[in-house]
Amino acid sequence: MRINKFIAHAGVASRRKAEELIKQGLVTVNGQVITDLATTIKSGDRVEVEGTPIYNEEKVYYLLNKPRGVISSVSDEKGRQTVIDLLPQVKERIYPVGRLDWDTSGVLILTNDGDFTDEMIHPRNEIDKVYVARVKGVANKENLRPLTRGVVVDGKKTKPAVYEILKVDPVKGRSVVQLTIHEGRNHQVKKMFEAVGLPVDKLSRTRFGNLDLTGLRPGEARRLNKKDISKLHELAVRQK
Ligand code: URA
Repeated sequence: MRINKFIAHAGVASRRKAEELIKQGLVTVNGQVITDLATTIKSGDRVEVEGTPIYNEEKVYYLLNKPRGVISSVSDEKGRQTVIDLLPQVKERIYPVGRLDWDTSGVLILTNDGDFTDEMIHPRNEIDKVYVARVKGVANKENLRPLTRGVVVDGKKTKPAVYEILKVDPVKGRSVVQLTIHEGRNHQVKKMFEAVGLPVDKLSRTRFGNLDLTGLRPGEARRLNKKDISKLHELAVRQK
């Protein structure tokens, strides 16, 4: 098996991230630094990433209802609570599939399967990510229409999105809008609403593909079963 695939399978990083680690000289095989991406791993080879031995473990998948005030990474240098802290019972080295901001709540998948992660986050696969945003301002067809065509965020146009206005409060000057996108750029939903003059006050992801928050209170997680996972693969493959 190719070295980057081996690292991804071990759940350490996605294949692309693994290639970067290799190029940076952070990967050793049987004690030797390797930088050749074509290196293959045989059974019995000892692979280390930044000095930590890695091994292939069972693939596991969890769905977390991420609360606000928790960061979507594996560790935090400032000691803040992370999504991993919310799943103390999991012994595999899981990490989040994409990120939700510190102040965003909702659907977050965690896994140790690097290939699955790549598949889920690639915009080509067009998996629905549904968000509900409370925004400042009165939302209407006119100000939201640009979102359906794409707005420029960080110098690049977003792919067409679908919106639904859930609530408008003209007196308080705020609205609740659902937005479905397929990409996952940094702060994308907040930036998209900002671009149409409706800054986000509160954001939640209510659905990722076939997965929603049914039965999960904030901070609760459930293990995904084979059916959940094959449905996600199906949604991704359908688009290819
Ligand atoms: N878009 C954002 O702006 N924030 C998130 O957490 C997710 C999507």
